[in-house]
Amino acid sequence: MTTVALKDVTKVFRDGTVAVDSINLDVNDGEFMVLLGPSGCGKSTVLRMIAGLEDPTTGAVMLNGELANDLPPRDRKIAMVFQDFALYPHMSVGDNIAFPLKLAGIDPNPRGERVTDVASALGIGDVLGRRPSQLSGGQRQRVAMGRAIVRRPGLFLMDEPLSNLDSGLRAELRAEISGLTRELGVTTIYVTHDQAEALTMADRVAIMRKGVLQDVGTPTQVYGRPATLYVAAFLGSPRMNLLEASVYVHLDRYVTLTLGEQALYLPWDDIRSRAVAHYHGERIVVGMRAEALTPVAPDFQGDVLQGRIRYLEHHGHESLAFLDIGATAIVVDEVGAPTDGEAQLGQRGLRRFGQVMQRITGRAGEPEEAPTGGGRTSVLHDPGRHHRRPAELAVRLAPYPAVAAGHPLAVAVRMDALHFFDERGDRIDVGWR
Ligand SMILES: Nc1ncnc2c1ncn2[C@@H]1O[C@H](COP(=O)(O)OP(=O)(O)OP(=O)(O)O)[C@@H](O)[C@H]1O
Ligand SMILES: [Mg+2]
Repeated sequence: MTTVALKDVTKVFRDGTVAVDSINLDVNDGEFMVLLGPSGCGKSTVLRMIAGLEDPTTGAVMLNGELANDLPPRDRKIAMVFQDFALYPHMSVGDNIAFPLKLAGIDPNPRGERVTDVASALGIGDVLGRRPSQLSGGQRQRVAMGRAIVRRPGLFLMDEPLSNLDSGLRAELRAEISGLTRELGVTTIYVTHDQAEALTMADRVAIMRKGVLQDVGTPTQVYGRPATLYVAAFLGSPRMNLLEASVYVHLDRYVTLTLGEQALYLPWDDIRSRAVAHYHGERIVVGMRAEALTPVAPDFQGDVLQGRIRYLEHHGHESLAFLDIGATAIVVDEVGAPTDGEAQLGQRGLRRFGQVMQRITGRAGEPEEAPTGGGRTSVLHDPGRHHRRPAELAVRLAPYPAVAAGHPLAVAVRMDALHFFDERGDRIDVGWR
């Protein structure tokens, strides 16, 4: 039984890299928490601080409600599994799994029983006598997990344990891992940059970017109500369509959202319209996932956007149409992109969202200016200063549809599935619905 709490935890490495920036996170007993984020965002550093392999620069790591900053790793009752796990090549599978028990001075008899139990739970009961070199990659990873579990840790830390495996094995093992840790009731913190892994395995997901925690919630919460534009763009495939919209309020009737030459009308009885109405006369970001868009007949009456297909992508089970609707896209930089030294945070004040947003309409390479006093850059720039580039609205179609690039297409919009963000990239309708 273990709980973990991080209180304002920051890690600055000697060279000035801010790997983790004021993180607050509570992990409940028995919970499966996934830390998700692109390469270099600080996931491993968080895990290593919890394990005691790295000291926080400031802040507190609490285990079971007690300050653990000075607790040596061996006293933390933690087991860790890495991507680059190493098994002892000269030992059998059984001896590999039993090794931590042997170190702990546990008698051969119960030791053997525990090894058999763990091995059969992991589906490697029949290869206990083999050497690691005689195993497949998936089996080897199971042995590494077995070796970690066998000591019955209170807390399980896993750092991308599946990333060396092929996709079929990954899917199989991720179901097994989440099943097993839940069965054992072990609190688990699992690091990945794979959103599918996060959404399928987690009780809750914590999404990081450049050392900063962006959002924490159940998979349904972070996917359905992302707290920031970054989270909205990070989760989901195809990416959420993010469009610039001008807000105009027709009191007691509806709120007009102007997207280029077209408009959508948010009815006044939609409770979110009060939050959006606050931005009367201003621009916001409207997010719509592909599942909020349905192709309809051209004369469809209702909430609809008209466009022309710029290109099609065929994925076998579905096709995606990318529509030119005459609106302006917001592009979220660096989402999932491999980055070297990405977490080299500059000014702390700019650490939130604005800094990473770059308008597709912006002049390439030219940094946006921070608004005076605000400290965070706007994602919506002055239209006069920039070239405009149209949005490509991703719409799901049946596989190999009877339409082609250049064809017109009308799509109905599920208004209740829209997301709204302010110019700094924060969700607008917090607290509503
Ligand atoms: N010992 C160190 N000294 C200086 N910088 C470091 C050190 N360890 C990590 N970093 C930097 O801290 C940042 C976070 O690193 P971390 O390994 O936690 O990222 P990550 O999210 O685990 O990335 P990945 O998905 O690639 O494993 C990176 O910019 C990394 O270069
Ligand atoms: Mg890492």
